[in-house]
Amino acid sequence: MRAYRAALLRFDDEGRPVYDPDGLLVVGPSPGASGAPGPRSATTASGVRVVRAAGAWSDLKDRFPGVVVEHLPGRLIAPGFIDLHVHYPQTDVIGSPAEGLLPWLENYTFPHESRFSDAAYAGQVATFFLGELQRHGVTTALTFATSHPASVDALLGLAQGRGLRLIAGKVLQDRHSPDGVRDETEQSLLDTEALIQRWHGQGRLGYAITPRFAPSCSDAQMQGAGELAARYPDVWIQSHVAENRDEIAWVRELYPDARSYLAVYEKFGLLRERAIYAHCIHFDDADRALMQATGAVAAVSPTSNLFLGSGFFDYAAADRQGMRYGLASDVGGGTSFSPFHTMLAAYYVGREGHTKAGLSLAPSHLWWQHTAGAAQALGLSGVVGNLQPGCEADFVVLNPQATPLLARRSAQAGNLEELLFSLIVLGDDRAVQAVHLAGGAGLDPAA
Ligand code: GUN
Ligand code: FE
Repeated sequence: MRAYRAALLRFDDEGRPVYDPDGLLVVGPSPGASGAPGPRSATTASGVRVVRAAGAWSDLKDRFPGVVVEHLPGRLIAPGFIDLHVHYPQTDVIGSPAEGLLPWLENYTFPHESRFSDAAYAGQVATFFLGELQRHGVTTALTFATSHPASVDALLGLAQGRGLRLIAGKVLQDRHSPDGVRDETEQSLLDTEALIQRWHGQGRLGYAITPRFAPSCSDAQMQGAGELAARYPDVWIQSHVAENRDEIAWVRELYPDARSYLAVYEKFGLLRERAIYAHCIHFDDADRALMQATGAVAAVSPTSNLFLGSGFFDYAAADRQGMRYGLASDVGGGTSFSPFHTMLAAYYVGREGHTKAGLSLAPSHLWWQHTAGAAQALGLSGVVGNLQPGCEADFVVLNPQATPLLARRSAQAGNLEELLFSLIVLGDDRAVQAVHLAGGAGLDPAA
């Protein structure tokens, strides 16, 4: 076992922050793994280290005699961040300007993704991508690959070696897609099932059935995806919905009888728990209620929505209808791997008050959306995204003195919300001093 003394941030079951200004985090093998009795989550991966205790230093210091304590004065320990929606093959598409989503896909994204038919190329990008996630403090991600099955193998094989928690899927797109990325209906479904069997539940890895979006998938492909989703209920589903007005008009032409864009996914059995839909901007209350009723969740992607000019996620309406959500980078429509940048952009989106109600999201609520709230969205509460006892020990050590302005501003923070907001507004990868992975290959095995 090993312990860390610093300021410590966790969340309670209601999503409220729990803060110990002088805290202790004790990390070690899962009690179940050592043969001792203890609760063990069904979905906690075996062989990973978990949080054994978390709380005030003064309460815990005598309970773990002999455990080495690393003292981190002036630092904040917080849960590793969760990115609910990202495209690893779009790492090099960041910053491609376009007149909105559809030209961006056609002119930059599809041509670039066609390069992932080359497994060596995919591996090289995957290595860089995983390094960026880790450097920025992201310890769990739900990511698109491309339509090439080998692009999933490249990513998940490398993630396994690092001990990251990665969920990924081969993109399904058998129509309205150019040569090089378009797949074949029947083969795409066979490939998806083979990948589920190869990767889902291997250590910390998971699989997500990945219809790109309704316009790019034939009815037969959507039907097949829905059948797989029913047959493998703990496999994730990821897609896009209601991002852009031209996209929505296109879906209306393709499905004139559907009540809404979201209803198309419902018709094919693609709304359920563990289904994560990026964007969910141009929704009405019936759509939000359908998300709530089915257990599907929104991956709010604010830097992408601002960059592509897609629109503004309506937080107040989501809360009114009980629709759940968490935060995502959506790289490469999104512009940054940094959870701080994403949280700040979410704050801007919340403030926007001309197309919807504007509100001021609390810093701790922004943080929750990228940690414990995102874990809840994935059906992984109590497993990742938090530092309560039993959680897998993914955490970041943050340095509020990392830059002159951040040091100056954070020193004047009078409470937790002000401290978190100084990091959200002024922080970036320079504030991430260390990233600890519960499954960490190559980390001290005695820890
Ligand atoms: N809709 C369909 N494909 C994509 C994609 O790659 N990025 C975004 N932002 N929206 C999409
Ligand atoms: Fe996306």
